[in-house]
Amino acid sequence: MSGLACIVLAAGKGTRMRSSRPKVLHEVAGRALAAHVLANAEGLKPDAVCLVHGPEMAGNADSLEKTFPRLIWALQERRKGTADAVRVGLEALRVKPQTVLVLYGDTPLMRRDTLARLVAAIETGAGLALLGFEASDPAGYGRILTDNEGGVRGIREEADASPGERTVRLCNSGVMAFRADVLADVLPRIDNENAKGEYYLTDAVALAIAGAYRVVLVMSDETEVVGVNTQAELARAEALMQARLRTAAMAEGAVLMAPETVFLSHDTVLAADVIVEPNVVFRPGVRVESGAVIRAFSHLEGAYVRQGAVVGPFARLRPGSDIGPAARVGNFVEVKNTEMGEGAKANHLAYLGDAGIGPGANVGAGTITCNYDGARKHRTEIGAGAFIGSNSALVAPVRIGKGAYIGSGSVIVRDVGDDDLALARAPQIEKPGAAARMRARVGRDRKSE
Ligand code: UD1
Ligand code: MG
Repeated sequence: MSGLACIVLAAGKGTRMRSSRPKVLHEVAGRALAAHVLANAEGLKPDAVCLVHGPEMAGNADSLEKTFPRLIWALQERRKGTADAVRVGLEALRVKPQTVLVLYGDTPLMRRDTLARLVAAIETGAGLALLGFEASDPAGYGRILTDNEGGVRGIREEADASPGERTVRLCNSGVMAFRADVLADVLPRIDNENAKGEYYLTDAVALAIAGAYRVVLVMSDETEVVGVNTQAELARAEALMQARLRTAAMAEGAVLMAPETVFLSHDTVLAADVIVEPNVVFRPGVRVESGAVIRAFSHLEGAYVRQGAVVGPFARLRPGSDIGPAARVGNFVEVKNTEMGEGAKANHLAYLGDAGIGPGANVGAGTITCNYDGARKHRTEIGAGAFIGSNSALVAPVRIGKGAYIGSGSVIVRDVGDDDLALARAPQIEKPGAAARMRARVGRDRKSE
């Protein structure tokens, strides 16, 4: 939306997390709390998004900088309250907005539609729109005070509320949208004469009403406003987000046999008719095409699984794995930065790293691509239809030709041509009757002990 600026408040210390990491960089569904909020803000197509952060963010936010290159960073040196944080954000904006949306960096479950409803309220004539919810337990929240007709009168912070006001369950989520000129009018008039000695943004509501601006209350679901202040709350937010992601994946037609045991990332893409067995973890960057089966206890990250492929049980796909149509990655197989062609198989116990595996190739149990020489990584290329015998070590860089055959137990250090057979192991020798003679000797030795 043109004329919209979003200010995300994230300068809180997050002391109760008891962590050296800034609070809003803790993750839910494989993405920083602040990144969830920023992605939602970006989704509204604003002219500018600003993150108000504290000094502890310095040097810690590389991933946010990469993901949100247009983000405006505003340092709030001292935490003087939410109104002061908004002032810092406004000063850092390089555009002159018509509408300002204020968000919190620690509420990852807020839905984009809800934010859009707040912005729409401003577009249709409100001076200020605040987001409220009915709290099952209102402790700690600012209470929204209303008159007899249900009109908003103001917000009272818990520390300043009378016992009667504390019984109110209509609470402030913290998210607010402003017509920019209304914000410019009320913000400088907010003082810090309250129980905490902070500049409360919530005071903007009563000031706007006194200034005869229209104030609109928009309601949201309680789960959307769940904030993260402690590790326990982080875990709760994760659980709520997982429930939401699982429901969405199933609505798209994915089969989750035991949904509560499948962990998804914010960006996991499961096509219709993908089957996911119990206890599977999807880290960021995974896409699975239709008809593929992800069997139990598999762990996937940065991987592309194409139509009809079967992965697992107990498989690990690391970043850069591209599993071709109808290919198979079986139990205790680890794949990294490797493309497997259509119908290629690695059914048991293998490490495939920095490799290209041609269509229809068969990689035997115990095969290892020795991709690392202690300093650098090297590629292994396996041609279409090649057969790699069990327990082979392919010492990269190395190429195995199309249709080539590698004898079991080989250590391959040189390229093998198309349709050639390579054996690189000690030759077998047989000694007729030697086993019986040995057994007899061992038996004699034991008696004489
Ligand atoms: C705030 C609201 C309260 C609401 C609650 C919802 C105010 C005064 N109160 O209270 O009505 O019910 O959120 O969770 O706004 N922050 C800064 N700089 C500051 C202070 C805060 O960036 O100087 C950021 C924090 O990082 C956080 C957000 O603003 O993301 C809210 O601050 P917090 O201290 O958690 O406010 P609450 O007391 O929870
Ligand atoms: Mg809070």
